[in-house]
Amino acid sequence: MVRLDRMLTVDDFKRVAERRVPRMFFQYADSGAYTESTYRANSADFDKITLEQRIGVDITTRNLATTILGQPVTMPFALAPTGAAGMQTADGEIKAALAAEKFGIPFTLSTVSICSIEDVAAATTRPFWFQLYVRKDREFTGRLIDRAKAAGCAAIVVTMDCQHYGQRHKDVRNGLTVPLKFTPRFVAELALKPRWALAMLQTPRRTFGNFAGHVPGANTVQELTAWMSQQDDLTLGWPDIAWVKQRFGGPVVVKGVLHPDDARAALAHGADAIIVSNHGGRQLDGAPSTIRVLPRIVEAVNGRCEVYLDSGVRSGHDMLKAVALGARAVFIGRPFLYALGVAGEAGVTRLLEILRAEADSALGLMGESDVRTLGARNIHSNELLPRT
Ligand code: GLV
Repeated sequence: MVRLDRMLTVDDFKRVAERRVPRMFFQYADSGAYTESTYRANSADFDKITLEQRIGVDITTRNLATTILGQPVTMPFALAPTGAAGMQTADGEIKAALAAEKFGIPFTLSTVSICSIEDVAAATTRPFWFQLYVRKDREFTGRLIDRAKAAGCAAIVVTMDCQHYGQRHKDVRNGLTVPLKFTPRFVAELALKPRWALAMLQTPRRTFGNFAGHVPGANTVQELTAWMSQQDDLTLGWPDIAWVKQRFGGPVVVKGVLHPDDARAALAHGADAIIVSNHGGRQLDGAPSTIRVLPRIVEAVNGRCEVYLDSGVRSGHDMLKAVALGARAVFIGRPFLYALGVAGEAGVTRLLEILRAEADSALGLMGESDVRTLGARNIHSNELLPRT
């Protein structure tokens, strides 16, 4: 049994997850596109920002609670949409959603999840967010939006940086497949990961839950795979945001913004919030880290909507840096996938406790008592800003 009290950092979870989760799925999470330079920069760039330490201030009471899109949250973190979380552990999306809901932060279900919208809605009591990949088949896409609405989702996140794929070499080398293909190599590996394998055998959820059974005419795995492989819509553009918004009737968040003009365009087309994201370095290798571009996006948005950030956040300190630079909240992806692989819901809960404790401690050491009032004065230096 893993001692969760011995887990102290995201890297601790990563190390143990690597031992417990089949390589194909662990590496699916732990991979970036091509040379992985953007994947590495996302985290490395947080270290190029220093926090201002202040003393002599009463820090007896400290507050991390705030709101995200009007929803009260216990801290400015949310769980990011991540593909196939239900392959890190059986029913992974349900487990992560339960941990997030008990902790009081949003969970975002991916379009390419293993548990379906309906599965997660049935297992939880509070509204979650739904991430939408607009597919070529707009009837199918419209039905996905309707299903999210029927499930009571609080927001739809439209991902705009993934209409075609940045290759991850590890996935190609591992022959990644969902549903599982029991190749001799995979079966041999399962013998070394018995906990994962047993739990996976006990759940019926081993394929893409939002697709299986929802595509008319695709009745076999082969038919569904063939249909899915033809669904990238390279025409996705700003007018589609208005369509999603009108069909959903609730808040729409645009994900994948790295350029100030795109932030302005998202707003002009009705986005209620934006996520500064490079898809965890999984798409355009060579794109800047998100923490590097955050200040110019915040400036372009100029208070007209909330700005969130994902990609590279590995600690409570990283969150405080992003918030001081103008993000309302940050989303974490890989950290919770590793935590799921280590210990399911309990792992994610432990991870969130760690992030909260780090943020609470650092907030006090910065001489601050409320995360909602952080700002430029809390940044001592930022090597990422262009020199003026
Ligand atoms: C899917 O969104 C992925 O990044 O794998």
